[in-house]
Amino acid sequence: MSDTNAKLTIGDESWDLALQEGSVGPSVLDIAALYKNTGHFTYDPGFTSTASCESKITYIDGEQGTLLYRGYPIEQLADHGDFLETCYLLLYGELPTKAQKDDFVHRVTYHTMIHEQMSRFFTGFRRDAHPMAIMVGTVGALSAFYHDSTDISDPHQRMVASLRMIAKMPTLAAMAYKYHVGQPFVYPRNDLDYSSNFLHMCFAVPCEDYKVNPVLARAMDRIFILHADHEQNASTSTVRLAGSSGANPFACIAAGIACLWGPAHGGANEAALNMLAEIGSVDNIPEYVRRAKDKDDPFRLMGFGHRVYKNYDPRARIMQKTTHEVLAELGMRDDPLLEVAIELERIALNDEYFVEKKLYPNIDFYSGITLRALGFPTTMFTVLFALARTVGWIAQWKEMVEDPSQKIGRPRQLYTGYPSRDYMPISQRR
Ligand code: SDX
Repeated sequence: MSDTNAKLTIGDESWDLALQEGSVGPSVLDIAALYKNTGHFTYDPGFTSTASCESKITYIDGEQGTLLYRGYPIEQLADHGDFLETCYLLLYGELPTKAQKDDFVHRVTYHTMIHEQMSRFFTGFRRDAHPMAIMVGTVGALSAFYHDSTDISDPHQRMVASLRMIAKMPTLAAMAYKYHVGQPFVYPRNDLDYSSNFLHMCFAVPCEDYKVNPVLARAMDRIFILHADHEQNASTSTVRLAGSSGANPFACIAAGIACLWGPAHGGANEAALNMLAEIGSVDNIPEYVRRAKDKDDPFRLMGFGHRVYKNYDPRARIMQKTTHEVLAELGMRDDPLLEVAIELERIALNDEYFVEKKLYPNIDFYSGITLRALGFPTTMFTVLFALARTVGWIAQWKEMVEDPSQKIGRPRQLYTGYPSRDYMPISQRR
């Protein structure tokens, strides 16, 4: 706590508000006792200026366009690390030694299978069910299977639940995809690394051997790193709020998946690719840019803009590089959608509307082109985002449970409905 205070004056009354500084980034005004002392609430729909918690996990500088996981720049982790090392970092707070990493990889690998009964949940869905709907249902169902990791006051059980989530999400995501395309489920393989195992579970079929392309597996792994965590975004805040009541961790992750699905959040990667396909060619871009600027037109450039980044999303830069690598490896350099995306970005970044509102491509703008090239249907894009973000959700959930100051989240409101009024008998109503 710093010794500088802010002073709030209402009428002839004044109150001191403590100003708390973080290690980097904006300081916060501690308003926890504001209502008790002043009888007033603050009002901040969408939480544009509100810190909901203290965290040591991820830091974003929106003006600079920087993203740090436990202090390490995303560019360095994406270039030099791998996804399970990033999971260890987010969960434990430090990069693992060789022995720690080998042990962590072993523990995750040996939790990738799911209870055989779980496969019966899938048959209740129509084959054309959206895979995100399947994920909300099946991940929520996991809460019915693990009674030995639901005592969230036990640190060991919290870590077991965390590892199970990270390990089982690829298996469930691959099963959602296989069910969607009508192919048999493929079991996890302990001889494959995390991302290779996921691609194998998605694209192998019983009729022949499936060799994972190491360039594509590396790209998949990097895409998971980019999506792993992102401060208190909508779905992470959902997981924290659900967890604040002491709810089962698997059920909390299911709530996060439901929130991520929205097109304003993780669903934007699917929406962005559908938008690029709808635009179709560079000749049509000016009309769509006009529509995006038209207040009376609900159309927005999907994959553009961000609540925090008022500069280029650093993940989008890395994603664009990955897109080129994947398309080159697959001999798809001249993907027409990539051409539309690059030209749309060029036009938008030179248009005063987007410049003035500081709207830049975000992670969802290029990811869809890459995921489609890897062989996934658009309906699977947000599932892949959820798979990767699970480690962020569970790391933030763990931090919340372990925070001695945490209590159940219960916001207040600005009430503008009727004051108290008496019941009117139906005979008197007009
Ligand atoms: C993710 O929070 C996170 O960290 C999320 C995420 C993560 O990793 O968890 O980064 C992942 O969700 C990325 C964002 C994916 N969503 C999209 O790409 C959908 C398109 N983007 C917009 O819906 C919007 O930019 C949001 C939702 C992302 C941010 O919305 P804000 O912060 O509430 O900003 P806003 O909607 O108030 O927009 C500010 C202005 C508005 O104009 P004015 O009312 O001020 O005149 O910018 C305009 C908006 O109309 N605007 C856009 C636009 N995004 C904002 N105009 C056209 N196209 C857009 N994409």
